[in-house]
Amino acid sequence: MQIGVPRERKTLEKRVAITPEGAQHLIKRGHSLLIEAGAGEGSGFSDDDYRAVGCRIARTLGDVWSNAELLVKVKEPDPSEFEFFRPDIVLFDFLHLASLPEVAHALLAKKVTAFAYETLRTSEGRLPLLEPMSEVAGKLSVLNGSYLLLSQNGGRGVLLGGAGAAPPARVMVVGAGIAGHAACATAHGMGARVSVFDISEKKLAALHKELPGISTEVSTPASLAKGCSQADLLVGAVLIPGAATPRIITRDMIRSIGSGGVFVDISIDQGGCAETSKPTTLDKPTYEVDGVIHYGVCNMPAQTPRTSTIALAAQTLPFIEQLADLGAAKAIHSSAEIKSALTCFNGKLTNKPTAEALGVPYSAPA
Ligand SMILES: NC(=O)c1ccc[n+]([C@@H]2O[C@H](COP(=O)([O-])OP(=O)(O)OC[C@H]3O[C@@H](n4cnc5c(N)ncnc54)[C@H](O)[C@@H]3O)[C@@H](O)[C@H]2O)c1
Repeated sequence: MQIGVPRERKTLEKRVAITPEGAQHLIKRGHSLLIEAGAGEGSGFSDDDYRAVGCRIARTLGDVWSNAELLVKVKEPDPSEFEFFRPDIVLFDFLHLASLPEVAHALLAKKVTAFAYETLRTSEGRLPLLEPMSEVAGKLSVLNGSYLLLSQNGGRGVLLGGAGAAPPARVMVVGAGIAGHAACATAHGMGARVSVFDISEKKLAALHKELPGISTEVSTPASLAKGCSQADLLVGAVLIPGAATPRIITRDMIRSIGSGGVFVDISIDQGGCAETSKPTTLDKPTYEVDGVIHYGVCNMPAQTPRTSTIALAAQTLPFIEQLADLGAAKAIHSSAEIKSALTCFNGKLTNKPTAEALGVPYSAPA
């Protein structure tokens, strides 16, 4: 199969969907790889690295899209890519359609077959393609948040770990999944006082067992309100797979954090978990509401493209291989995991939470 990999278009996005090592593996299985010039540069992979393993380098975005049967990328398609959509192309990438109606409608109108990394689920209920990026974003949320707490960045001038007689900062993490776990471990490691909130008591218990120094609480409007009133840094890491993020942090809760406090909303890619959440970009990552610095970057892992590309591509490769070896239709039939990622097919939305979030009829994948 002809596999195409374009250069990412999102602001400061430097990840690439397939490494030269992954490309070599697919070529050995009889597939052809067409990589857009410069696609891997931000992750430390040159065009020559791809050429050396047998890839062809395409000069333009149009060349990649027009020649690909399977188009693999990292982030959702940019509006500049919509003109290349067509019914016989298979797209595999992060889609986050619940918060991106314009991308959803463009894919449906052109009857693209699209599989979303973030909804691909294993039989044990894991989301293996979201996990590595959630881990990176969770770790970065604390680094970005601690930097924004510095006074020259508008923050209230507290150091996460405190010093001497000065107490550590308070970090509140909402969501004890992969991103929340990584945020807790990082903040705890930096000496902060950490509290984590989730609706799953099982996840809270597991996290408490691993990091006994942090406090765990069941997420309710009352517990979240109390937590916010004490927080220096709030991290949003909530997810209902495929659906728009529930807006469980109210504006009053945000106001109670107080001036110079920081809110990093990792879950912004699915719409954000606060009434005040809105997406930002890496070149202008913050805005302020009621004195609280908000950070709402939808592609946080792009800050560490080398790490993120290697971590993500290692997980996606086996599924790219299945799609390329079998073609989309056979892969859907033979793999429940691939089927769980199917989001758009023949002009229909085949992921229920996404369809509900967009108010579009849902069609079960037959
Ligand atoms: N901004 C970025 O660059 C970036 C990068 C990676 C992941 N993400 C996003 O981060 C979010 C978290 O991803 P994850 O992999 O950690 O998900 P996950 O499924 O591992 O964890 C989500 C957690 O949210 C909890 N939750 C659901 N409703 C809740 C509520 N009302 N109160 C408290 N907790 C609640 C769930 O029980 C679960 O433990 C997702 O939206 C994901 O897309 C964003």
